[in-house]
Amino acid sequence: MSIEIAPSILAADISRLGEQVREAFAAGTRWLHVDVMDGQFVPNISFGPHIVAALRPIADEYDAVLDCHLMIADPDRYLEDFVKAGADAVTVHVETCPHLHRTVQHIRTLGARPGVTLNPATPLVMLEEILGDVDLVLLMTVNPGFGGQSFIPGGLARIARVRQMLRDRNRGQVTIQVDGGINAETIGPVAQAGATVAVVGSAVFNHRAPVADNLAALHDAAVQHRVM
Ligand code: DX5
Ligand code: ZN
Repeated sequence: MSIEIAPSILAADISRLGEQVREAFAAGTRWLHVDVMDGQFVPNISFGPHIVAALRPIADEYDAVLDCHLMIADPDRYLEDFVKAGADAVTVHVETCPHLHRTVQHIRTLGARPGVTLNPATPLVMLEEILGDVDLVLLMTVNPGFGGQSFIPGGLARIARVRQMLRDRNRGQVTIQVDGGINAETIGPVAQAGATVAVVGSAVFNHRAPVADNLAALHDAAVQHRVM
């Protein structure tokens, strides 16, 4: 099972964000994960639609996907802003959407791919009625709000269960993204469990090695795990 990497800009050097993003695209990634935080749903504040607009021209150069993870209260308020700014995919937390079906339809009507996500302790049953309407399911393997946290091991079983839930509904084409604590140790097991895109922040953007080297190490680790 091959896995794509979606670097999370939350871990990037924001003083040279364009350069860091280009490094990731030049190394072959075709996803970019924009972690949007409002200081209310999660205890951190990060980026707004203007960052998506600034990155859109670079993503266009590489035909890359700008994937917005909205960790914000009442996301319906900002769907149009993020899609107009250039988001290709918009993922909302089930915990923030009392009218989830309407929110998902709204994202699709705006022209973006709708995704849903849920916190590590939110029961997967919350996904059951919406799996037929989304293009992406994002499974959190850390508590949302910060990069650099440790992977929550229970996430592996959740990936496998969501994969089965999708198969049972003939929705095998839905992207299964995993997000949080993904590194050379965890990327293999999450790929094996069925994740098709791994969001990676601090294991891509850090002072230990250049972006391209970190991405290569992650891809090698995923392949090696597969052959084990
Ligand atoms: C956390 C975010 C994640 C995070 C990943 O709330 O949703 O995308 O940036 O960062 P790492 O890979 O460092 O755990
Ligand atoms: Zn994220």
